[in-house]
Amino acid sequence: MGSLNGKIALITGAARGIGQAIALRLAGEGADLVLCDLNQEWLEETATKARALGRRVECASVDVSNADSVQKGVAALTEQFGRIDVLVNNAGITKDQFLLRMSEADWDAVLDVNLKGTFLFTKVVAKQMLKQKAGAIVNIASIIGLIGNAGQCNYAASKAGVIALTKSAARELASRGIRVNAVAPGFIQTAMTDKLTADVKEAMLRNIPLNTLGTPENVADAVHFLASDAASYITGQVITVDGGMVMS
Ligand code: NAI
Repeated sequence: MGSLNGKIALITGAARGIGQAIALRLAGEGADLVLCDLNQEWLEETATKARALGRRVECASVDVSNADSVQKGVAALTEQFGRIDVLVNNAGITKDQFLLRMSEADWDAVLDVNLKGTFLFTKVVAKQMLKQKAGAIVNIASIIGLIGNAGQCNYAASKAGVIALTKSAARELASRGIRVNAVAPGFIQTAMTDKLTADVKEAMLRNIPLNTLGTPENVADAVHFLASDAASYITGQVITVDGGMVMS
């Protein structure tokens, strides 16, 4: 028996990287999956792997930053499954630049996907969870939202916003049986961090007490915990998965 047997989990940005690892971890624990990403085709790899674990999987092409796309995508998927027990807001982008050179378009794009996307999905899915009087929402933030980073004003602001949204939604929804938590990864080996130069990676390693980059599976483990009944008395929290970079 998996810890999520019989549960339905919706994961955004599930085509690759951390989102794919989360989807496969939750599927391995028995959850059926609703997978969303920009392009349905991109999700096929994740869907095929999850189906091989014996799970039911539906995919939808959804732009998390577009209210209409989110509304239609979630409505269609909820109709098919009848409920959503777990929502993981994982889709995210970076458009790094120093503050004085950052364009308004790059500011807006990052805030729209990372923060507004989390708001839009949380709003639509929470409506369904309110009917069920139960649900667990896990938002993927970042340690950059806690400590900031030169060249990432837009990204840091978006992830700090995700953390504040997590805490406020947790307070609003707790009495209705819905828990809202966040995971703040440090530096995780994915396409997002593959873009970094060897020098930057070496400098990062010097600041990681556990002296290694994290894996998407490390993040998925924390998400699984927060999504499961093992975390039934935990809401409004941020778990850092960062090899010890940020200690509060
Ligand atoms: P990734 O770039 O490998 O995957 C992101 C996924 O989100 C992609 O499949 C992409 O198509 C999807 N996506 C992007 N914009 C979208 C939109 N508008 N609508 C729907 N889907 C969209 O990124 P990675 O590294 O797997 O990151 C996942 C999450 O983890 C992000 O929120 C990121 O900010 C966060 N994170 C990643 C860290 C890392 O070191 N890789 C560290 C801290 C946080």
